[in-house]
Parts: sequence; structure tokens; C-alpha cells
Amino acid sequence: MGKDVIIALDFDSREKTLAFLDLFQDEKPFVKIGMELFYAEGPDIVRQIHARGHRIFLDLKLHDIPNTVKKAMAALSALDVDIINLHAAGTKAMMSAALEGLTRPDGTRPLLIAVTQLTSTDQERMDRELLIHAPIDEVVLHYARNARDAGLDGVVCSPLEAGSIHARCGADFLTVTPGVRFADGESGDQKRVTTPERAREIGSDYIVVGRPITSPPIAGAWPRSSAERRIRDFFNRRNCYGYQTRSCAQPALDRGGVPAPAGAVHVGQRHQEPHLLRQPPHPDRARGA
Ligand code: C5P
Repeated sequence: MGKDVIIALDFDSREKTLAFLDLFQDEKPFVKIGMELFYAEGPDIVRQIHARGHRIFLDLKLHDIPNTVKKAMAALSALDVDIINLHAAGTKAMMSAALEGLTRPDGTRPLLIAVTQLTSTDQERMDRELLIHAPIDEVVLHYARNARDAGLDGVVCSPLEAGSIHARCGADFLTVTPGVRFADGESGDQKRVTTPERAREIGSDYIVVGRPITSPPIAGAWPRSSAERRIRDFFNRRNCYGYQTRSCAQPALDRGGVPAPAGAVHVGQRHQEPHLLRQPPHPDRARGA
């Protein structure tokens, strides 16, 4: 399974986004375009970033009746991104319809993954606000199985849940994990978080990192920031993000006719450097790894 870092381009304008990407010079990191940028700039920003050679995870988290999601996915499929997502809470019927809509006449499609429970949600909110009383890790696993049964390629989940999801849904079932924070960083609105090192140990396939990299002053210091260095070390690469050293490159995914995102990098040895975050204390020791 390929492993990689996906940078969340949570900017409110094309100018800020392109200025950030220009900091990488010849590097082409895998990026995530979410609601903020997509709603501010529209589909053209996706085309522009695609044309610059970046792999793209389009994080729009669709959730509606099956027919609407199917039609919306058909429209988004034309943008030719690598990964796209929806909410597993929309039901298996919605996920199957999405898959249908996403599949192009020639049978190709972007990878489709489902958000299980947002990494900003915790057990208390689920209990008190949403009236979902099952333990959060059970809910996440159940949603992941629903996504797998509907034919999806993987899930968005907390890095803390990646190991148990692989154990239940298979090693090839993709785990894309936001909720990554550096040991000395703030967790902000994220709750179910851990460090890149720990995420890798538990089994994340792709970590999604936003504010720890993109928020000033770190962005201004890119690419020599401590954030960059730690991620580089985590992935055992010599250059910034390692995009990509030919010696360790291999296809990220091989999933029967669905084109794999080009150029994800296989990670070699584990980097044994578990750090714990100050806030909140993470409960991953209790979870399957
Ligand atoms: O800044 P931060 O590293 O928290 O960014 C995480 C990114 O991942 C944000 O763009 C957020 O929308 C997204 N995301 C998430 N939790 C999910 C799915 C996506 O935080 N379950």
C-alpha cells in the first residue's frame, strides 16, 4: 500500500492557494481541495491545480438523497481528480448511487471514499447532540463496513482508527486520515488526533495535514519549516516531500480497473518515534493497531 501526505489547501482564494503551491517550486505535493476553496473559486480552481500536475483529493463530503448524489458525482467525475468523498451516514444506497454516477462511460473513475465520523466529533457530542449511543469506534467500524459493502475504495477516519479498519475491511481498503498534529502543536477543533509518526505506526495510508503546515508563520518558512522536516523524516525521504524518488516509487493502489493515483510512494521501514500530544490525551492505546 502506498503512503503519502496530502496537504489540505484550506485557503479562501485562488491567489493564496497558488502562492502557497509556488513555495514548492518543482515539487508537486498531493493536495486536498475542500469546501472553502471550492465554494470560493468554483471548479476552475480544480482544473488549474490539476493542470499544474498535482494529484487531487476533492473533499466535498456529499450527503443527500441517492439520486442527487449520483448526478452530482457524475458532474464532479469530469474534473478528473484522484480521490473524491461523501458521508457514509448517507447510507449504502447513497454510496452505491454515488459510485454509479462517478463511473465514466469508459469504466474509469476517481477513487471514492467515505467519511465515517468527522475527526472533530467525540463520544460526548455523539451521545448528547446526535443521540448516537454506540461507542464511537464501533460506529466508525460499522460505517467503514457499509462503505466497503457498497463497493467504495476506503474511508476518511481518524488515524487512531486506521488499524482496526484495515483489520476488519482489508489491507487494501484505503484509510485517509486527517486529525494529524505534531507533538508540540495545538489540536484546535480536532478531537481524535495523533502525530504523523503514530498515524504511520497504526496504519494510515494517507495522512491529511492542513493548518499545522499551511497556517502562518509556518507557510512563510516553507519548505525549511520544522513541519516539513518532520513529515519528510516520517516518510523517510531525502527531499521535500520526496515527490518522488524513483527508487522507492510504486503504484499506490491496484484495484481492478480503477486508475491508481499516480506516483504515491511506498514507505520502507517504520520510524519508531511515538510522540503523544498534549491535548487532548489520545486514547489509541485501547484501539487495534
Ligand atoms: O487543518 P487540519 O489539519 O485540521 O485540516 C484537516 C482537513 O481535513 C480539513 O480540510 C478538514 O475539512 C478535513 N477533514 C477532517 N475530518 C474529516 C474529513 C476531512 O478534518 N473527517
